[in-house]
Amino acid sequence: MRSLLLLPVLFALAFSHSHDKSLDWWETTIFYQIYPRSFKDSDGDGIGDLNGITSSLEYLKELGVGATWLSPIFKSPMYDFGYDIADFYAIQEEYGTMEDFENLMAKAKELDIKIVLDFVPNHTSNESVWFEEALRGHEKYYDYFIWEDGVVDENGVMHPPNNWVSVFRKSAWEYREEVGKYYFHQFVIGQPDLNYRNPAVVEEMKNIIRFWLDKGVAGFRVDAIAHLFEVDKADFGGKLPDEPLSGRTDDPDSYDYLTHIYTTDLDETLDMVYQWREVFDEYKEKDGLTRVMMTEAYSSPQMTMRYFGEGERKGAQMPFNFVLISDVNGESSAAEIKYALDKFLTFKPIDEHANWVAGNHDNNRVASRFSPELVDGINMIIMLMPGIAVTYMGEEIGMVDGYVSWEDTVDPSGCNTDDPINYWMASRDPERTPFQWNAEKNAGFSTADKTWLPVAADYENLNVAVQRESENTHLNVYKFLADLRTEKVFRYGRYESVAFNEGVFAFRRWYQRKAYIVVVNFRNEPYTIDLTYFEGVNRSVKVVVSSIQSPKTSRDVLSANKVEIVGNESLVLKVV
Ligand code: NOJ
Ligand code: MG
Repeated sequence: MRSLLLLPVLFALAFSHSHDKSLDWWETTIFYQIYPRSFKDSDGDGIGDLNGITSSLEYLKELGVGATWLSPIFKSPMYDFGYDIADFYAIQEEYGTMEDFENLMAKAKELDIKIVLDFVPNHTSNESVWFEEALRGHEKYYDYFIWEDGVVDENGVMHPPNNWVSVFRKSAWEYREEVGKYYFHQFVIGQPDLNYRNPAVVEEMKNIIRFWLDKGVAGFRVDAIAHLFEVDKADFGGKLPDEPLSGRTDDPDSYDYLTHIYTTDLDETLDMVYQWREVFDEYKEKDGLTRVMMTEAYSSPQMTMRYFGEGERKGAQMPFNFVLISDVNGESSAAEIKYALDKFLTFKPIDEHANWVAGNHDNNRVASRFSPELVDGINMIIMLMPGIAVTYMGEEIGMVDGYVSWEDTVDPSGCNTDDPINYWMASRDPERTPFQWNAEKNAGFSTADKTWLPVAADYENLNVAVQRESENTHLNVYKFLADLRTEKVFRYGRYESVAFNEGVFAFRRWYQRKAYIVVVNFRNEPYTIDLTYFEGVNRSVKVVVSSIQSPKTSRDVLSANKVEIVGNESLVLKVV
């Protein structure tokens, strides 16, 4: 009798389970980006380091984060703060030793946190052995780079081979007397581009991937991928062609001056991404662990999706989705937010995952690009939209861009403006200021008298320690969201969104009988909204978490047809 009664229950269970595809580690985790130079300094030199990260891994655990990707930790003269790599197989001394790295891996394993490294395939440092050997005329290494003759005008003056411009302003060509030619660099002068039309380079770079995978890393974030290949001059009569003017600016030194049809987004680049994925998958074959690839490209949605793979060939599991960085900001209306968020979901292949990135070390912080009041709202979006969440360190506590004077500016993107007034618009130093741990000296980041970048002014009130102490803080909202997103609704649930008016963007996630609604008011104005717009919402909704300035508290029950939203308020509501 009793077992008969249980039958319908068992039936229901069996049924619900058959729908739930089992998900791999990377499909459900939160990826937390650490900028090692600014996270935690263990030896008092004012520069963050590996031991600092190792000693702070428990904090990631506290957040509910299961993976971290580290900006470059490799040997570098630091012209672009580690994105100019002199030795891909060695750790930068000021960050620690290989042994420190191995300790970091061991501690991460103990805590079940995956470590993802930054793979910078487009360029090396001009202080790499490869480049130095090239300058000495060592043929093998000469062919690792892209060399062209200058163009001599009627007055006998030599000019760069063509009009190509560096991402960081001015000609992308630099002359070297040693070889009597120009080399190509899409980024700073200290970052000579590698020549991917040379099979030896292709093999060398795969070996770098293997080297770190052998050390147990769970994948790579791939830097500046859109820039990997340039056109083959053989297709242009032996001369690399000028790029057409964009018409967007009159400043010929600006990267924006040209349309980059010959230096970005080439088909050969995609092929290389697919080749790397094959290397990743060889490792998975061996030990069962999926190695994840996230590609960094600020490209069109059509192009971005090609990184996932084409036909039988697989590519990145996570081509970064930068809409929250590139398409919208604090001025955007709810409709513009909806339009931006829909973009990736609309274009992505049906069986791939979206991912949500609101910040990184190259872009102003959420509190500064949107507003401090929208920090929780943006975190609700990245954590509760369908897909994988990515957080830049500090966004969980709502860190604000630091002020960095012209004198203290070190980022080449800022320095290359040669403009002591407007440099801050190009500089990336403000979003790289030291992590704010507590109200002590240097925000608890370092005991040094001078840190590599100044600590942001507001650190005494805005830091992890302070936010741990009281309940109503960004940190606690973040932790709550990290926990909430483990519910099936957020793993498997469907999604629909709406702009209720100029300010209020809302979305519903639902799965079987459960449903949640997330509401974010992008304007500092009150609105009254009718949530019965959503199917299945009838009488009431219950607040499960609210932004810190919200007058509502969790467990408040609201009449669904008349929800009053205050300025910049964000809410996660449960449909009851
Ligand atoms: C993208 C990186 O995120 C950025 O910091 C760097 O300057 C460029 N790629 C060049 O490597
Ligand atoms: Mg240090």
